[in-house]
Amino acid sequence: MSYIKIAKEKFDNLRRKKDVVILSIESSCDETAIAIVKNGREVLANKVSSQIEIHRRFGGVVPEVASRNHITAISNLYLEALEEAHMKAEDLDAIAVTYGAGLMGALLVGVNFAKGLAYSLQLPLIAVSHIHGHISANYISHKELNPPFICLMVSGGHTAILKISDYNKQKLLGTTVDDAVGECFDKVARVLGLPYPGGPEIDKLAKEGENNIKFIVSNSLHKSLNFSFSGIKTSVINYIHNKDQKKEEYSKADVARSFEECVTDELCDKVIKAALLSGLKKIVIAGGVGANSMLRAKLDERCKKEGIEIYYPVLKYCTDNAAMIGSAAYYYAKDKKGFAELDLTAKPNVDL
Ligand code: KG4
Ligand code: ZN
Repeated sequence: MSYIKIAKEKFDNLRRKKDVVILSIESSCDETAIAIVKNGREVLANKVSSQIEIHRRFGGVVPEVASRNHITAISNLYLEALEEAHMKAEDLDAIAVTYGAGLMGALLVGVNFAKGLAYSLQLPLIAVSHIHGHISANYISHKELNPPFICLMVSGGHTAILKISDYNKQKLLGTTVDDAVGECFDKVARVLGLPYPGGPEIDKLAKEGENNIKFIVSNSLHKSLNFSFSGIKTSVINYIHNKDQKKEEYSKADVARSFEECVTDELCDKVIKAALLSGLKKIVIAGGVGANSMLRAKLDERCKKEGIEIYYPVLKYCTDNAAMIGSAAYYYAKDKKGFAELDLTAKPNVDL
């Protein structure tokens, strides 16, 4: 029998199998990651090799450098993941991989490694959207969590509010019309002279500052659930450049605090509005900016007031990892979704 026939048969069987063990691969940006996840919820191994230190000296991710480092790291991570799970390759039921969104060269490393593994082990290959992965990070963090819910997706590449009615059924309620919020954190941090990645640095510095500079997000979208962050990004940059040109002193901590207050208010207002409008009193946060401590504190307080349940991934699953991809792949397979052939390629952009 041909590989494709064997793989398709095994893929279809995953729906009926009691225990499904998936080895998942993530390489969309600057983290090479491999995990082994059982039944979408139980993480048996979670290996992440971060390139942050390498990219820090360039002030951001250099795509070519990221691809090369994924190549160097990926084979060892595979062996380490099996070791951590006390498993052999024969114990695996499927191989899952992020096919997009992300950096083309970086994604291709994971996709091609996954294809090689799937073919050599004669296992089905499941192509997973990075965005669905971020949402699924919550399923491994909260065993009792099930759809439906409202999701606030806040990462370096995406900012959106989604209505998740079932594991693979979602509707976009709002999105950014320009920059993603994580991109905005990173840019502001860079202008403040903070190291890459900027989000966690702003988070730390803001704690020492006062909210005393009036930054505002564009209110042209205030009636919709869409976001716009390029205006506030530009006003923060202009504020800093102005001060520098005039050689005036200013507090970086106050800038960080005032910026973060403004952006987190906007995210909170809109996701709570979405929950109240939809009647779904359950909010789930996804993506790297979901690690932000001010965003979490504000959401906790406001959700409590409104009687809304709120869920965040545990911190290690908030930023890029492969366990979240393994969880998403499990729910894809249960719905017969995501089966990929060996011509699978990477996609820099995928629909929300
Ligand atoms: O989800 P993620 O790891 O990668 C993408 O899919 O983009 O998100 C990365 C983004 C970066 O912009 C990073 O600065 C931001 O998440 N981030 C944070 C925090 N931790 C990571 N932003 C604000 N506060 C944080 N604590
Ligand atoms: Zn991500």
